[in-house]
This record gives sequence, structure tokens and C-alpha cells, in this order.
Amino acid sequence: MKFFLDTADLDAIRELSATGLVDGVTTNPSLVAKSGHKDFISLVRAIAALVPGPVSAEVTASEAEPMLAQGRALASLAPNIAVKVPLTPAGLRVCKTLSAEGVKVNVTLCFSAAQAILAAKAGATFVSPFVGRLDDIGEDGMSLIADIVTIFKAYPAFTTEVLVASVRGPAHVVAAAKLGAHVATLPPSTLRQMFAHPLTTSGLAQFTADWEKAGIREG
Ligand code: G3P
Repeated sequence: MKFFLDTADLDAIRELSATGLVDGVTTNPSLVAKSGHKDFISLVRAIAALVPGPVSAEVTASEAEPMLAQGRALASLAPNIAVKVPLTPAGLRVCKTLSAEGVKVNVTLCFSAAQAILAAKAGATFVSPFVGRLDDIGEDGMSLIADIVTIFKAYPAFTTEVLVASVRGPAHVVAAAKLGAHVATLPPSTLRQMFAHPLTTSGLAQFTADWEKAGIREG
């Protein structure tokens, strides 16, 4: 399972990519706004230089022509850019065109299996179903992941990877992994949480105390 970081925070990306466990980054207009950076192009370039894997940068236009121009401009910033487009008719038209040009495309704001099928037919590299936002309104986000994974497995021609997004904690990551989702994009807090378990902490402390108490020579 690939782990992407869902953030535009350069410090968090630097900190967590140092673990060697980060395979890419996803951003969106809200995350970029939250970062405080005002120069989107330089921010995308900086993120793309921090991680070798796919870095999703989202278009902001809603009509196909300007969206395509934005997508081509974003793709030109670095070889590891994945252009993020919304799951709309215009977004899927742009997805099909960019994919045919060899550009990675992440189709975002996916909330149904029907939408995911359209993204796969449009040649998306990734489709991003938002599990947390479905849970937030009382639906079962992870059942959507199950449906999409099942459908995609039935069609080998579908090369689109399921990128589980809107992750709210480690439980979402584990559930997505059980279903065989290709990627999860994690808020930095979720990745940090995944390392932690109180029995690991207490167990390591006990090993250290016992070792030091025994006065064992190590060389
Ligand atoms: O970046 C896409 C997605 O992961 C954002 O989800 O619900 O945390 O805004 P959310």
C-alpha cells in the first residue's frame, strides 16, 4: 500500500518524508490556503522536490479549456506532478486529454462507485474517494472503497489506482488496506498516530531498564 501525505505544509512533508515511508503528496485548494503560501507555483515546485513520488496539484478552473491549460502548466513544473481534477464532465474530459498526453491525473471529489467507473474510463491514474466526508454525513465511506476495489478488479483494462482520501485516522488506513486499496493519503497527524502504541512505549522502556540494570558489557 502506498502512503501519500495529504498536506501542503512543507515542514510536515520534510519531517515525515524522512521516515522513508512516504510515497507521494496530495494537496487541494483548501490545504494550499491553509499552508499560508501565496505563490502556488513555487509551493508545488518545492513539494515536488521534497518527495520523488507523485505530487497532486489541483486545478482551480471549472470549464474544460482553462482547466486543461492549468493542468498542462502544473504538469510542466516537475516530472512527478499528478494533475488533480474534479469529478465533473469537464474534469473527466481534461483527464482523458491529459492522460493521453502522458500526464498523471488524480480525479478527486469522488463519492460514488458510478463516479469512480467514469474516472477509470477517462484514464485516470488515481481516483480519490473521500471516505471521511461520507462518514461525516452518516454514510459508510469504506463500503464505497469496497465497491470500487471490487469493480476495478473485474476489469483488468481499468488501470486506475484507488487513492483513499479524506482519511480521519489509522482505522481508515487499516480498513482500506484490508480491502486492497492501492493508496491512502494521510494527514500528517494520522501517519504520526500509526507509529504509536502504549505497549510499544512501555515495552521499550522496560527493555532499556532491564538492560541497564544488568550492567551487560557491549564490547
Ligand atoms: O485532499 C483530499 C482529501 O483528502 C481531503 O479530505 O475531508 O480531510 O478535507 P478532507
